[in-house]
Amino acid sequence: MTQTENKPLVSDTPLVPIEKIVSLCKRRGFVYPNSEIYGGVAGIYDFGPLGVELRNNIRRYWWWSMVQTHDNVVGIEGANITHPRVWEASGHVENFVDRLVDCKKCKQRFRVDHLPAENLEQHKCPNCGGELMAEPRVFNLLMETYLGVVEGDRMKTYLRGEACQNIYLDYDNVLKSSRMQIPFGICQIGKAYRNEVTPGNFLFRQREFEQWDLQFFVHPSEMEQWFEYWKQYRFDWYKSIINHKDRLRIRAHGTDELAHYAKQAFDVEYHTVLGWQEWEGIHWRQDWDLSRHSQFSGQDLSYTDPITKERYIPWIVETSGGVDRTFLNLLLDAYEEEPDPAGKEPRTVLHLHPWLAPVKVAVFPLQKNKEELITTAKSIHRNLQRLMVSQYDDIGNIGRRYRRQDEIGTPYCVTVDFQTLDDQTVTVRERDQMTQVRIPISELPMYLLERVTWK
Ligand code: GAP
Repeated sequence: MTQTENKPLVSDTPLVPIEKIVSLCKRRGFVYPNSEIYGGVAGIYDFGPLGVELRNNIRRYWWWSMVQTHDNVVGIEGANITHPRVWEASGHVENFVDRLVDCKKCKQRFRVDHLPAENLEQHKCPNCGGELMAEPRVFNLLMETYLGVVEGDRMKTYLRGEACQNIYLDYDNVLKSSRMQIPFGICQIGKAYRNEVTPGNFLFRQREFEQWDLQFFVHPSEMEQWFEYWKQYRFDWYKSIINHKDRLRIRAHGTDELAHYAKQAFDVEYHTVLGWQEWEGIHWRQDWDLSRHSQFSGQDLSYTDPITKERYIPWIVETSGGVDRTFLNLLLDAYEEEPDPAGKEPRTVLHLHPWLAPVKVAVFPLQKNKEELITTAKSIHRNLQRLMVSQYDDIGNIGRRYRRQDEIGTPYCVTVDFQTLDDQTVTVRERDQMTQVRIPISELPMYLLERVTWK
């Protein structure tokens, strides 16, 4: 796929400060701080009208590429709450911890794995230079919750710390109720909850967030081949939706970084003002999950090959990424303040892929005081609304209306002018190049659909 019919975006445009995105998101209704009127809650956000559209598009495009276009992949949607034993079996109760040290002087708290080596060795606070506590304290990230109403008889469990656990729990049901045979995969998009000790950087590290997972079940002898397939597929997928291709890379985990369930892992990373950071993890989970759930539940989760009759615990390739991190990275990737050649205010534009842009088209009458222009523009808008997200706008001059749409990434603007009333044509202006073409109204739906629908 290619980015819009646009000029290539120069890859050395400066990295965008997170604050610019936070401000745009609030101003234009993408993201709001949760419970803001009560002072907010760190690491929890709500999505506004445009945020919901963008998120839905991102999710739908992932689902289409992972589930709908793969005959050997199906989807599920699991609950956020599970039996507490799940988290013992998964290893999270024991291992899902952050090790933290406090500074004796300024009292700031740091994650040991985030401290520069020098500070760690010298027990020196990176903030004030004071002395750090010698012994780190250990915090479990699982969020506890309770089921039942009778005090003393309530069951403690956890909000899911990683969404993928439902896939292992439903694996046997999917196998029995669908016609899948190994190798096959199960996908899910769903919320996960972590008591992150250092939430921050807007959507990057939250306490409630959404993950998309594929768990692909294979015979051990085919692990290598499928691991390579999905690693490449996911890397290419991310590459296809960004402008700054050189800001994407894939990096192998060192043995000291591996999560408790992973035998090998790669991160798809994206470069922002935060440096190179994980966007998605590709994990070689081997037989850890199904073996552990077999052991803890007492249910046999082994697979019998229908032809060879070989019985084995399937191995798993996992691809696990964040919907919110995708949302944030896409905005950081797309945001640009283009200098105005006439020296006026810069043009703020989101170069979002048209497939993902929250609003696909905006329709304007050239003037507000001409009834025929308004009627025609509204009728075009109504027709387009049945096919895609369309906005009608007749406030302010055309330049201002373009600017408003550029700022939210609308790829096409349609203007109804006096010529329209004569020949039933309109101008379509493209966001990135700012070029305009004149096309018949009758061809408009197809013209736009071809450009805003993924294929
Ligand atoms: N099942 C494997 C797993 O959960 P992970 O690396 O902990 O692996 C996968 O999480 C993805 O979820 C990350 O690559 C990231 O995109 C997203 N993610 C993890 N923690 C997050 C947080 N606190 N806030 C937002 N996104 C997060």
